[in-house]
Amino acid sequence: MKNYKRYLITSALPYANGPIHIGHLAGVYVPSDIYTRYLRMKGVDVISICGSDEHGVPITLKARKEGVTPQAIVDRYHELNKKAFKDFGIAFDIYSRTSNKVHYDTASEFFKTLYDKGEFIEKSSEQYYDEEAGCFLADRYIMGTCPHCGNENAYGDQCEKCGTSLSPNDLINPHSTVSGSKPVLKETLHWYLPLDKYEPWLKKWILEEHTEWKTNVYGQCKSWIDQGLQPRAVSRDLDWGVPVPVDGAKGKVLYVWFDAPIGYISATKELTPEWEKYWKDKETRMIHFIGKDNIVFHCIIFPAMLKAEGSFILPDNVPANEFLNLENDKISTSRNWAVWLHEYLEDFPGKQDVLRYALCANAPETKDNDFTWKDFQARNNNELVAILGNFINRTLVLTNNYYEGKVPPRGKTDQNDEDVLREIGRLKNNVESSLENFRFREALKEAMNLARLGNKYLADAEPWKVVKTDPERVKTIMNISLQITANLTIIFEPFLPFSMEKLRGWINLDSMRWDNAGNTDLLSSGHQINKPDLLFDKIEDEAITKQVEKLLSTKKANEAASAKTAPAKAPVTFDDFSRMDIRTATILEAEKVPKTTKLLKLKIDTGIDTRTIVSGIAEHYDPEKIIGKQISIIANLEPRKIKGIESQGMILMAEDKDGKLVMISPSEKVSNGSTIK
Ligand code: MF3
Ligand code: ZN
Repeated sequence: MKNYKRYLITSALPYANGPIHIGHLAGVYVPSDIYTRYLRMKGVDVISICGSDEHGVPITLKARKEGVTPQAIVDRYHELNKKAFKDFGIAFDIYSRTSNKVHYDTASEFFKTLYDKGEFIEKSSEQYYDEEAGCFLADRYIMGTCPHCGNENAYGDQCEKCGTSLSPNDLINPHSTVSGSKPVLKETLHWYLPLDKYEPWLKKWILEEHTEWKTNVYGQCKSWIDQGLQPRAVSRDLDWGVPVPVDGAKGKVLYVWFDAPIGYISATKELTPEWEKYWKDKETRMIHFIGKDNIVFHCIIFPAMLKAEGSFILPDNVPANEFLNLENDKISTSRNWAVWLHEYLEDFPGKQDVLRYALCANAPETKDNDFTWKDFQARNNNELVAILGNFINRTLVLTNNYYEGKVPPRGKTDQNDEDVLREIGRLKNNVESSLENFRFREALKEAMNLARLGNKYLADAEPWKVVKTDPERVKTIMNISLQITANLTIIFEPFLPFSMEKLRGWINLDSMRWDNAGNTDLLSSGHQINKPDLLFDKIEDEAITKQVEKLLSTKKANEAASAKTAPAKAPVTFDDFSRMDIRTATILEAEKVPKTTKLLKLKIDTGIDTRTIVSGIAEHYDPEKIIGKQISIIANLEPRKIKGIESQGMILMAEDKDGKLVMISPSEKVSNGSTIK
């Protein structure tokens, strides 16, 4: 690989329309943070850029639903998400936002440059327009049936069921999400980036020159390119976004996916006056951390924009991850199927590193993966507590007990000691090469292998036994264990920054230089260490059960909500209605119809007569408990034989979404036979 002078790390700008959840963390921000911390420890010139993506239709739709301005929505989530990242130690150099002035200026200028160079196609076309609301229906303002899978609730930009990206004109039976009305087609002018023009270049740049990209990323790019690239609209008829900076473009803004990646540039400008050296010098290595739904934008569209502009560097790698599921179901903000960072911290205060660890160990690097609370507990109890915490605790406690916290000298070493010392360097190299290749799970595993090595070393050497017979030997054992401990603080720092900071305090080690790892004399003899505390503690079953139950109740609530409310029926005349004899009655007797599960035979007093009605409510009502109850019936329904019994009418019931049947009773007692109208 080329030797670079500096690094520019970007992490996908999350939309400021909802809180951050574990899927975001596992897919994008934990890996980007590990990588950035590692580079900083190497002493490399690196900046890590992120911020809120504050445009786009989901934000304006949410604002409309809540009756507030889009700015109010993004203000709320920008602050919440900024804090969540900070709380989890995701150490961006800047967390900016795309609604600020620097960004508006930068995005406008970028568009203007391309416009002036004649890089856009200007084209009028017919687009859907909502006549009731008086606006064009871009992206999620329009819904209809997906032409690929038949999903009736596909959006104008994407079908969430089959994942196909769509344009509003693809939808069958389109309707406006603003007014519900059927839209009409109307002429409108837009600007298009001719991606087809960049196809030969993209083919060469990605398919030939970046064969080292992750298989999932390379594969997606190849399939886009193989299908043939089309010009893509970079403007929209909306009133929330960066205005299109040309005359006659009133009411038009830049498409969110045009302005958002420029946000990386604006944020860098905001961070440092030297922003140009990060963006324009070929010796900068730019890396985009993203999730798989962002691949086309970061590998094809944004590079084409950068190429068209001409003065910027291109990403050298885009290590996109797949998706994380939660307990076997797709994470979803709208269905509240997620673990939100701020809620996690309420339930597990101080345990940021545990989540970072579990998410990295289980990261969806090559395929979608599942987060389960059981796995989370096991990672904590069997790995962080039983391996890493246990080794460190034993080492520090014994050093305090035997030597009042002073590092003992390393005396004569045997073959096993030497092997162990050498293994430290080998594991450090493994971690390093895994990190360099964006294989974070593997890197973490190798880091944990160093703690495993330490544990095994102590268990085999048994200093607590040997101390009685050969105290000199124990000094050597403890010295080596302490060197392993010191190495752990460095190697684990990118992964577990909170815990390693604590540990560095306990062993009085300042160094966080990556290249010091592998050194077997990090702690010299006589160096004083402090009294340790526990690094990790066991997570009990109750805490896990509580989380699982929380998800179960979400699932139940979702099921109830998604059971469909029946659509309205065709209209009837008042005459039709008044021909029905609906009246009150009282149940006199009730018994189960033999050999059926659902039927009750009821004798009722209708005010005009006493009659029999057979009703399918046996699973919902106990016959003994409904005697004397006042209900509503249709009295003039043609009699019908049910299981050999003549049923003379029908009882009115409300059927709840879960199928539960409830009798309709007058809210106060009235005389039997009162008509209902
Ligand atoms: N907001 C987008 C998402 O969450 C990501 C934008 S990344 C950027 O999918 F490049 F556009 F900034
Ligand atoms: Zn579909």
